Amino acid sequence: MRARRSCLAVPGSNPRFLEKAQGLAADEVFLDLEDSVAPGAKDEARRNVVAALREGDWTGKTVVVRVNDLTTRWTYRDVIEVVEGAGDRLDCLMLPKAADASHVAWLDTLLGQIERATGLPEGGIGIEAQIEDARGLVNVDDIAASSPRLETLVFGPADFMASIGMRTLVVGEQPPGYGEGDAYHYILMRILMAARAHGLQAVDGPYLQIRDLEGFRRVAMRSAALGFDGKWVLHPSQVEAANEVFSPSQEDYDHAELILDAYEYYTTVEKRGAVMLGNEMIDEASRKMALVVAAKGRAAGLTRSGSFTPPS
Ligand code: GLV
Ligand code: MG
Repeated sequence: MRARRSCLAVPGSNPRFLEKAQGLAADEVFLDLEDSVAPGAKDEARRNVVAALREGDWTGKTVVVRVNDLTTRWTYRDVIEVVEGAGDRLDCLMLPKAADASHVAWLDTLLGQIERATGLPEGGIGIEAQIEDARGLVNVDDIAASSPRLETLVFGPADFMASIGMRTLVVGEQPPGYGEGDAYHYILMRILMAARAHGLQAVDGPYLQIRDLEGFRRVAMRSAALGFDGKWVLHPSQVEAANEVFSPSQEDYDHAELILDAYEYYTTVEKRGAVMLGNEMIDEASRKMALVVAAKGRAAGLTRSGSFTPPS
């Protein structure tokens, strides 16, 4: 699985941002041809994006281009120009407003044709599908199963809120008047369930109040707590916060590694499947939970403090 704790949006029409993004510590960058690029700038943005992919240094990052959605006149040209021009530099294409499985299937087929024509490894370019409207959410299971290229489902809150008529203009915050729980809970969980049922990652979308870092953290904590793998970032100041929020704490990471070692010892040496570790009972399910936290911690570059000492 590629790292996606922080997924930085970079407008393809802005060469300065395309340059600057290369030096930031985001796990993923996505060079955008869609909603951050004005209709009159789409052609130029494609050229900028291909040049930035070819000439830039994107080492260590998951590299993605977001094409326009399938209802526009731009999508086929986005895919062809970007993949023919710089397919060897690309990890994934992001498809916005994926409304049903046929949208992803179309992209999968076109990518296959371009890969065959240009000698790129077949199936090498992955897909990220954005769930951004009511139709996409209703069809999210089919979308999640629609292509072996799919790597992640991405929640697009701004388009989504418009699609369902949610009565607010502040993306990610609770709509005024809704005092009961979290208005995004169902949507986030629905996307997460579909993603996990098909072995995909799940990524939360943008928080637009870029000067409110505390607000960003609060909203990011919400999806991180549920199990999401990362969140979009729109500004350099959000990168570090996202990387931190979507990594386990040192304490949780150490505890996860301890559970794994202890459980290994008790099941193999003592041949017991349910044992006490401190005040906690652990069993096979505890090992599975610990594996998730340990994997996220290792991917985040955490190093373990402490170790397991078998009872004497
Ligand atoms: C992102 O694309 C969004 O619509 O929030
Ligand atoms: Mg959108």
